[in-house]
Amino acid sequence: MKKLYLISTGPGDLAYLPPLARAAIQQCSDIVGYGLYLDLLEPLSNGIQQHNLPLGQETERARLALNLAAEAKTTGLISSGDIGIYAMATLVFELLDYENQASWQDIEIAVIPGISALQVLASKVGAPLAHDFCTISLSDLLTPWDVIEKRIHAAAQGDFVIAFYNPVSRKRRWQLEKAKQILLNYKSADTPVMIGRNLSRDNESIQIESLQTLDIEQVDMLTLVMVGNQQTRWLSQKNYIYTPRGYREKQ
Ligand SMILES: C[S@@+](CC[C@H](N)C(=O)[O-])C[C@H]1O[C@@H](n2cnc3c(N)ncnc32)[C@H](O)[C@@H]1O
Repeated sequence: MKKLYLISTGPGDLAYLPPLARAAIQQCSDIVGYGLYLDLLEPLSNGIQQHNLPLGQETERARLALNLAAEAKTTGLISSGDIGIYAMATLVFELLDYENQASWQDIEIAVIPGISALQVLASKVGAPLAHDFCTISLSDLLTPWDVIEKRIHAAAQGDFVIAFYNPVSRKRRWQLEKAKQILLNYKSADTPVMIGRNLSRDNESIQIESLQTLDIEQVDMLTLVMVGNQQTRWLSQKNYIYTPRGYREKQ
């Protein structure tokens, strides 16, 4: 049987690796990924052929994984966090959809879900995602900025808690400042902002700021930025953040 696992490895620390992902990796003869994430899996991947393709070669990674599986090598394509969230799983389905190669047709695909960066950051500060929330990627590499900007306005109008993925990159730094300025039109300046860097990895840092004091210099490409809604509260003595669901008003 031809088998391709799309494996979510969680945010970094192997303690967050889902049991299903661990079991899938043990089935694989080959795993395909990006170096940093393959390195994090090192303790588990003894004896497994590793295929390391650099950032920017996402399509090649997905195609290689399909081709290896087509040769009846049980293959794992890995992504950090959840492989379905701003990650590799969609590319595999897109290739199946548009390239439709005969040797890929009888590959059985299993998607293994995982813990995404927003869940880790939420768990480390309290319970900010307890009510309606959304995620927005600030990368305009594949999505035009006017679409992203429209979504920021809509999320702010809807008063969602917003998790910003890909807030900056090495070459791209202005989008987060622009997002902040848009949000300030809708949200109060003291809205809590949670900044999680290198979550569950070496040099993890978590900072809590207000929308007004959010400084783009605090943020790099391995950072998740989460902005509260109008009800989100900051218990500043202990640095807990939570978003109430309305139980108090019901009492
Ligand atoms: C291409 S997306 C991948 C998201 C990933 N699939 C997930 O579910 O977390 C990369 C972005 O995710 C966020 N991210 C992923 N892992 C992170 C971590 N360990 N700490 C902080 N942010 C992280 C950052 O915003 C980063 O720019």
